Amino acid sequence: MRITVIGCGYVGLVTAACFAEMGNHVTCVDQNSERIDALSNGVCPLYEPGMEAMLATNLSGRRLAFTTQLNDALQDVEVVFIAVGTPCSDDGSADISQVLSVAAELGQLLNNPAVVVCKSTSPVGTACRVEAILEQQCQRRQLSWRPVVISNPEFLKEGAAIGDFMRPDRIIIGSSSEPANALMRELYAPFVRNHERILFMGRRDAELSKYAANAFLASRISFMNELAGLSSQLGVDIEQVRRAIGSDSRIGHHFIYAGCGYGGSCFPKDIKALLHMGKEHGEDMSMLHAVEARNDKQKHWLLQQITQRLGANLQGKIIALWGLAFKPGTDDIRDAPSLVLIDGLLRAGATIHAYDPVAMSKIAERYSLPVSRGQIQLMDEPYVTLQNADALVLVTEWKQFRQPDFSNMRKHMRLPLIIDGRNQYDPTQVREHGFEYAGVGRAAPKKHSQPVLRQVV
Ligand SMILES: NC(=O)c1ccc[n+]([C@@H]2O[C@H](COP(=O)([O-])OP(=O)(O)OC[C@H]3O[C@@H](n4cnc5c(N)ncnc54)[C@H](O)[C@@H]3O)[C@@H](O)[C@H]2O)c1
Repeated sequence: MRITVIGCGYVGLVTAACFAEMGNHVTCVDQNSERIDALSNGVCPLYEPGMEAMLATNLSGRRLAFTTQLNDALQDVEVVFIAVGTPCSDDGSADISQVLSVAAELGQLLNNPAVVVCKSTSPVGTACRVEAILEQQCQRRQLSWRPVVISNPEFLKEGAAIGDFMRPDRIIIGSSSEPANALMRELYAPFVRNHERILFMGRRDAELSKYAANAFLASRISFMNELAGLSSQLGVDIEQVRRAIGSDSRIGHHFIYAGCGYGGSCFPKDIKALLHMGKEHGEDMSMLHAVEARNDKQKHWLLQQITQRLGANLQGKIIALWGLAFKPGTDDIRDAPSLVLIDGLLRAGATIHAYDPVAMSKIAERYSLPVSRGQIQLMDEPYVTLQNADALVLVTEWKQFRQPDFSNMRKHMRLPLIIDGRNQYDPTQVREHGFEYAGVGRAAPKKHSQPVLRQVV
């Protein structure tokens, strides 16, 4: 099939490369010329495991091409994917201006009745708006055909995006057009060989399903963080609670880890967008408000732990950070808990020594001034960050941080303090190495007085 993908970000690039891998001819369009130049030369401008190898195979096989010119990408195209960004507007709604401007461009340039697929996460009714724009343009150009626009939200996870796309749990197609459904069934057939996982539904159903999935997962995280807060008060270990409830098959182990909050390019903005949809339609979304509020609070937990122990003024203190990306496996720092921590540390006057296997260039770009002044020092190696440090904060649970050499770490640090924002370490083991340890909901058990038994007379 001849496919065009508009937007070469995490979603567009993975979509394009995976369709090319299955033998399709895919042209990827982005307005960012630097990005297109890099990709045309096989260099991936974002970190996604396996992507560069896939780029190399498909560029050399001539199944994948990159351009900044949408016009060049539409010749005889059968399917056009819109995978541009839908960031958060000031009022919390999803800003779909990139999607709508692509629709307007397509309306002017599309010369054949391709199926237009909205892959960007967009509010209910967006596919309908895209179709209206295209229809208007086709009418103006006196074309004999009318475009079909469908919704096909994406569920990939950064860091495991290729695997998720190649072996999806499900593929959601929101469409009422039988020919478009048939085309999608054919296009996705190689990805669902062993059993059917394509769910057909209405466009609006598909659009809301994407928001529902993210909101549900975020709710699980905030619920566990709330329980972690209570656990600290009660001297309960939230990790034991997690194990206990996760083994219930109705609950399962995914997304029930207490930590320093969720971030990334999706959960925060999608929750805001869903809340905005609720407000627009007069639906009270108090539960989702609580999910968001808990997460905002949770992102301050790391700094609180530091200032409780080292004081509010951190002038002259060195804080080591392990991990900066919003989660392991990606260089994405959008809405990452690390940003809230870094901002707070800089305000308090601390010097930051930080290491992340892939996200440091993004941090260097965002904090160019503090980096140039030495307030943030990005190190090549995790142990170097510990030199004279007054605390180590584990922010992102990259695998390489799971089993560190605690004795060696202790020797480098000025103060033996570990703040574990992802509950990666065994508190007893860490304390045995002479560290003070703070985990999320893992307070050292308090001495509780036994209730006095009332004497029965
Ligand atoms: N990142 C994820 O993990 C993920 C997962 C599922 C869904 N989504 C959704 O997918 C969409 C894309 O996300 P992303 O993370 O890939 O975004 P991104 O910001 O990484 O990439 C978007 C790309 O679109 C390009 N672009 C914008 N306007 C354009 C135009 N008019 N013409 C050509 N290119 C244009 C930008 O230059 C950018 O490279 C969003 O709606 C997001 O919510 C993201």
